[in-house]
Amino acid sequence: MRKKIVAGNWKMNTLPTEGASLAKEIVEKFDTKDVDLIIAPPFTHIGAISKVLINSQVKLSAQNMAKEDFGAFTGEISGEMLKSLDVEYVIIGHSERRSYYEETNSILFAKIRKALSVGLIPIYCVGENLEERESGNYFNVIKNQLEDGVFGLSKEDFSKLVIAYEPVWAIGTGRTASPVQAQEVHAFIRKMVGDKYELSTSENLSILYGGSCKPSNAKELFSKEDIDGGLIGGAALNANDFVEIAKSF
Ligand code: PGA
Repeated sequence: MRKKIVAGNWKMNTLPTEGASLAKEIVEKFDTKDVDLIIAPPFTHIGAISKVLINSQVKLSAQNMAKEDFGAFTGEISGEMLKSLDVEYVIIGHSERRSYYEETNSILFAKIRKALSVGLIPIYCVGENLEERESGNYFNVIKNQLEDGVFGLSKEDFSKLVIAYEPVWAIGTGRTASPVQAQEVHAFIRKMVGDKYELSTSENLSILYGGSCKPSNAKELFSKEDIDGGLIGGAALNANDFVEIAKSF
């Protein structure tokens, strides 16, 4: 059976002390069984938060990482560095990385391979923008993001991934994809994965929905057959809301 996952992407929010308090509050409030709860704070917070999460059910993710190992890459953070702080997951290809930092599918593929090589689990994000949604071209966009971003992986490596479908027009806008819209794309992703690899690979893949997901809409979204949880932005900065979302299965 595939895992139910709720991951919180804090983006560039909170100062380190605030982040450590938020993580502590989440640890204290979270008691939902059968759900993996993950938080992805900024890099500067990871050392302190890693200590807060010791012996807790809450797991740690980074929001990005370098595609290189070590060396002259000013400003970058390597997968090994993250691993050494007990980070388990890394978000790769968030739409903000794709659009503001021009990360292409081929760069993202290199990052994913590097993450897997050091034992991090990539949460690979895909999703169309508003124009692509309105023109009806969204299936093609997602197909390319899968083909160029992850389908070069072996079946064994691919089976370690988590995928997040995040329509760009729903991120931080308050405009959530309807459960029917989200389910349509999740089913499409699962079918593509089944065709590329094996049926069992697709059945075991957790596909998260992201984009203005909050306690008031999580239940309906998570009730859909192919939606296995959420990647949460804004609502992940409030411990009550975040933990409430994890109860929405
Ligand atoms: P949002 O962000 O929940 O604030 O829309 C989601 C995301 O960007 O992962």
